[in-house]
Amino acid sequence: MKTVQELMAASNGGPETVPERFVRKAEGVEKAAAEAEADGLLPLADEAPIIDLSLLPPSPPPPASAEAVADELQSFHSALTSWGCFQAINHGMTGSFLDQVREVAKEFFALPSEEKQRYLRADGDMEGYGSDIILSDQQVLDWTDRLYLTVYPEDRRKLDYWPQKPDLFRGTIYEYSLKLRGIADIVLKAMALSLNLDTNAFLEKLRGNVRMDARFNYYPRCPRPDLVYGLKPHADGSSITIVLPDKEVEGLQFLRDGRWVKIPIVPHALLINIGDQVEILTNGMFKSPMHRAITNAEHDRISLAMFCYPDAETEIEPARELINESRPGLYKTVKNYPEIYFHYYQQGKRPIDAVKL
Ligand code: SIN
Ligand code: FE2
Repeated sequence: MKTVQELMAASNGGPETVPERFVRKAEGVEKAAAEAEADGLLPLADEAPIIDLSLLPPSPPPPASAEAVADELQSFHSALTSWGCFQAINHGMTGSFLDQVREVAKEFFALPSEEKQRYLRADGDMEGYGSDIILSDQQVLDWTDRLYLTVYPEDRRKLDYWPQKPDLFRGTIYEYSLKLRGIADIVLKAMALSLNLDTNAFLEKLRGNVRMDARFNYYPRCPRPDLVYGLKPHADGSSITIVLPDKEVEGLQFLRDGRWVKIPIVPHALLINIGDQVEILTNGMFKSPMHRAITNAEHDRISLAMFCYPDAETEIEPARELINESRPGLYKTVKNYPEIYFHYYQQGKRPIDAVKL
């Protein structure tokens, strides 16, 4: 199958129409949202919260007052209970390093087709380069090409799929993944503290054997953004997901109160959302949010999503401290959630619903 990039290239500046397989249907979560959307994307009074990671406990820098730290933790808690996502600033990576990460991704997708074919996803594999994975005949295809790579732990890397061009690709992504491990630690600690749990409650579960998968998303400009998704509405099967958004082109949207709200560009921010596994661990205190990516008629867009999750053997269940008489345990104990996720996702169902008690 042609990648979306090849599809666009084949028709000299792009087709006027898009193949039927990409045309979205208003069903499920989209039906209600589509009605709300009829009046245009509503500018809700508030935007996705911005959280200053340098202020989060347990060890903010000395100039931060105790009050500022407590306030930030409160905002963080409220971001995760009401949105399930936030824009993270002051995360410790420089703007020029983030630009370098974006640049290697951009250069990879700009390579000639023959060069990229070397990294083509094999049948039945998640990893590698290609367009949307086809799971069923009815599936509406996403207007995106991607490169999917397991980056951590190191011995799980399939280096055959790791681009050798551009030269800086491997080193840059390796360094980036190490930085994100540190950021994930800060977030997992703050999550536990904000729920009055032991600092390491989530860290111990999720970190010791953490896995990290990178998905580089390339959304070529699309002649019919009104009909075609970059990425269908979904919630993530991760514990948390850390997204490096495009520097100039918006496209990511989160469902909030039944309506789609766009994530605006905040310079050098990372977009962090929780996934189903944290919804389970927090007994639903933090909600794994639905989100989607839209397409753009004028511009290509590139993003990089890093999915963090524990290894297949780790048991995930609601923290005991978050279960009480007024709030019984809401989820089953699960292992290898990505497999469960994939199974239900493939059937067009919302995976988290399948593990509710
Ligand atoms: C996602 O992976 O769900 C979003 C990535 C993007 O912003 O394109
Ligand atoms: Fe996602």
